[in-house]
Amino acid sequence: MRAVAPYVPGEQPGPGRRVIKLNTNENPYPPSPRVLSALAAAASADVRLYPDPEAKALRARAAAVYGVPEDHILAGNGSDELLALVLRATIDPGDRVAFPVPTYSLYDTLVAVQGGEVVRVAFPPDFGLPPGLAAARARVTFLCNPNSPSGTLTPQELVEVLAREVAGVLVVDEAYVDFARSSAMGLVGRLPNVVVLRTFSKSFSLAGLRIGLAFGHPDLLAGLRTVKDSYNLNRLSQAAAVAALEDMETMHANVARIRTTRQTLTARLRDLRYEVLPSEANFVLARRPGIDQAPVAHALAERDILVRHFAVPALQDALRITVGTDAEIEALLAALAGIAG
Ligand SMILES: Cc1ncc(COP(=O)(O)O)c(C=O)c1O
Repeated sequence: MRAVAPYVPGEQPGPGRRVIKLNTNENPYPPSPRVLSALAAAASADVRLYPDPEAKALRARAAAVYGVPEDHILAGNGSDELLALVLRATIDPGDRVAFPVPTYSLYDTLVAVQGGEVVRVAFPPDFGLPPGLAAARARVTFLCNPNSPSGTLTPQELVEVLAREVAGVLVVDEAYVDFARSSAMGLVGRLPNVVVLRTFSKSFSLAGLRIGLAFGHPDLLAGLRTVKDSYNLNRLSQAAAVAALEDMETMHANVARIRTTRQTLTARLRDLRYEVLPSEANFVLARRPGIDQAPVAHALAERDILVRHFAVPALQDALRITVGTDAEIEALLAALAGIAG
């Protein structure tokens, strides 16, 4: 008999609960030891002081790493906060916000909160950039690149064409870009309507600290600053983010391991008769055309292996699986062979 109740997807595992967590695209490897030292140093009596509302040290470090001027950078409490700030700063009730679907589900929620009108443009089956996105004449267009849940990447040249075509702001959500081949960062500064969002939650293994960066024209970022909480990024997170950017080697090494495991996972899922799109992220989308994958996700959860199933028609026959450690992926594949094989 089971000692504990089955894990409910979406819940945080309780203390001591050993689950293989492949459902929210966290990094399976620890952050840089320099980040942990910086956190220990920042956990001092100085926490009585407010954090720097402008996160100047972090922005200076990010400017050096990414080659973007400091006044083109804004720090946020995760890129989720930055997404919300973009809409809060630019959208009036009834304004249009466009994005290709399926994509990151938070966009829908944030537009609804702001009273905007969502224009969803369906991706084609290969998840190439859908024509018609610019025709929406939206005030804000989101492009999740690499896209979640597909893992696919729109090449930089096409992102630039889109940026020139859209009527308003183009937000390129690059949460997963460190796992990919190209980025739209080169458009920042060149095209005043482009905002590139980055997070420390994925490649830098810092999801628990909630750190994101927005890169864009200073006039655009000024609008975001007026609607943000003054002290939006706490002292410990600011210190950790600076340290993370001072040790890019650890991040790159973790990314390299994940990319290698991603290749194995993709090949082995194909052996199990899943269709897997080429992924440029730290997850893959695995599809068994016409076969509902909700029971598979459920059966995996009963074995304490969590993957993501989206209960929407376009993704009913698919699972999104985060690339974990090699051992986690072996356990997943063994379980999957038993369940879905
Ligand atoms: C596409 C995308 N954007 C943004 C985020 C949120 O990142 P953060 O943890 O920085 O808020 C996620 C998290 O899963 C994501 O998948």
